[in-house]
Amino acid sequence: MFKKIIRKFLVKYGYEIRRIPVIIDRPGFKLYKYIKKDGSFDYDWYKQVQTEGNKLKINVIWSIEENIIFLSNYIKKITGQPKFGICHGTRRGKEQEWFRKHLNCEVIGTEISDTAEQFPYTIQWDFHETKPEWINATDFIYSNSFDHSYDPQKCLNSWLSCLKRGGLCILEHSSVDEPFRTSELDPFGADLVQLLYLITSWGASRYCVREFLNAPIKHDFVEYLTFIVIQKL
Ligand SMILES: C[S@@+](CC[C@H](N)C(=O)[O-])C[C@H]1O[C@@H](n2cnc3c(N)ncnc32)[C@H](O)[C@@H]1O
Repeated sequence: MFKKIIRKFLVKYGYEIRRIPVIIDRPGFKLYKYIKKDGSFDYDWYKQVQTEGNKLKINVIWSIEENIIFLSNYIKKITGQPKFGICHGTRRGKEQEWFRKHLNCEVIGTEISDTAEQFPYTIQWDFHETKPEWINATDFIYSNSFDHSYDPQKCLNSWLSCLKRGGLCILEHSSVDEPFRTSELDPFGADLVQLLYLITSWGASRYCVREFLNAPIKHDFVEYLTFIVIQKL
């Protein structure tokens, strides 16, 4: 009650109370931690922050159709005609709509927010988790939301466990995914070089970086936009 009154008072004057963040900060790598007072992981806090961020930006579309066409052609060239793909962290679900159109196959999207079911082919789901029917059964995965992971190693291992052998996981990485942009909403940030190192070490002979591709189109406010192509071995 007392806390609520103070919070209201501060908001009135343009201030807010925030938890002091715990951040793992290494050269080229930052990870914002959602920690309870007792030191354990505060999943409810993570989910609440992501859901609020999703609702604030519900009309924004980050993904670009020309890039999805480019990736669709790339996927067909490397793996042949895919049957099933998953896009992670999809908000309005445009990427799965475009992949479906240009690959003519089944593609679904995951979204943690309860807005998920407003959008076609989107399920409300935390992308750190897998469904049994996805395991070793997915031809490709695409995401531009890896920077929203609370545990990027767990996340990537989950995604790669879903791929068939030879399947592709394509991570979109841009200058705004670097460590200096890390925040409560975008908890993971890494330099491109550091990310390539981390993926190689997490892959441990199960998956590796096949190549990275410059995006044909990028938003004006990013310096570069790259697709990191990870392949399951
Ligand atoms: C940067 S936005 C990208 C949205 C969309 N891909 C686009 O191109 O417009 C990140 C999205 O991922 C969602 N998200 C964050 N954490 C997630 C999680 N653990 N599982 C699934 N979705 C998540 C957010 O709610 C948000 O809608």
